[in-house]
Amino acid sequence: MTDLYAVVGNPIAHSKSPDIHNAFAEQTGEDLFYKTLLAPLDDFEGEVARFLEHGGSGLNVTVPFKENAFRLADSLTARAQRAQAVNTLKKMPDGTLQADNTDGAGLVRDLTVNHSVNLTGKRILLLGAGGAVRGVLQPLLEQDPAGIVIANRTVSKAETLAKDFADLGRISASGFAEVEGSFDLIINGTSASLAGELPPIPVSVVHQNTTTYDMMYGNQKTVFNLWAEEQGAQKTIDGLGMLVEQAAEAFYVWRGVRPQTARVMQSLRNERR
Ligand code: ATR
Repeated sequence: MTDLYAVVGNPIAHSKSPDIHNAFAEQTGEDLFYKTLLAPLDDFEGEVARFLEHGGSGLNVTVPFKENAFRLADSLTARAQRAQAVNTLKKMPDGTLQADNTDGAGLVRDLTVNHSVNLTGKRILLLGAGGAVRGVLQPLLEQDPAGIVIANRTVSKAETLAKDFADLGRISASGFAEVEGSFDLIINGTSASLAGELPPIPVSVVHQNTTTYDMMYGNQKTVFNLWAEEQGAQKTIDGLGMLVEQAAEAFYVWRGVRPQTARVMQSLRNERR
């Protein structure tokens, strides 16, 4: 029988996840179908319960339910526990619901495998201190960077994150304007790009070998990556690869099979033209 998966969110109609996962299924020969699931804002739990009762095997979770999923799960992987947010739910053989977070693994894989950016020993600046940044901190620290500075508009939130992850590596907090020195990798995890805005960081953070990564993506280069290019950054990357890689990691969690991502990424890029 064909196994059923879905991405649950609100809104959800424009999600690319069904295209990505159904392409993975075709490529790997896994017998599954993946669809979108619109949950009412006040009944995420009921929607998930009904999906599972009707034979659903697993879910991806997106805005605004990542924290609901964290609370709903019967068990959590270590990386979901750290992230305090969940983007992947898996129905276990005993009927319980296991929660995972594949966002950070997706980011690290896009950087290291697809873009050959080595993170070990590197200085990393992370902009933002919301759920998106919390979700990627553990996998980034596991790459053993020289250090991570978290800069945020609300400095207290950056300080909380730095404290929560201090046991995993060298990590400190800052305001945007107070960031000191330059960085090998700058990751924009704020939602400022959505408003067409730039986090007001000093231009001196960019040096000639700096790579920038915007977790957002769109039809054009993001304002953040355009800014970085103007400052002389060597390489700018958008978040499309992270989207596809977090999906591949979720597919692996569910099926034990790792799909290839290059062709799926290429077709998403072509679609945007
Ligand atoms: P997400 O789950 O996408 O991380 P979030 O938890 O609401 O969403 O976090 C949004 C992040 O973007 C925060 O770091 C926020 O800064 P504050 O903590 O000070 O609110 C940041 N952000 C949003 N709009 C911004 C803007 N215009 N300029 C700079 N930072 C912004």
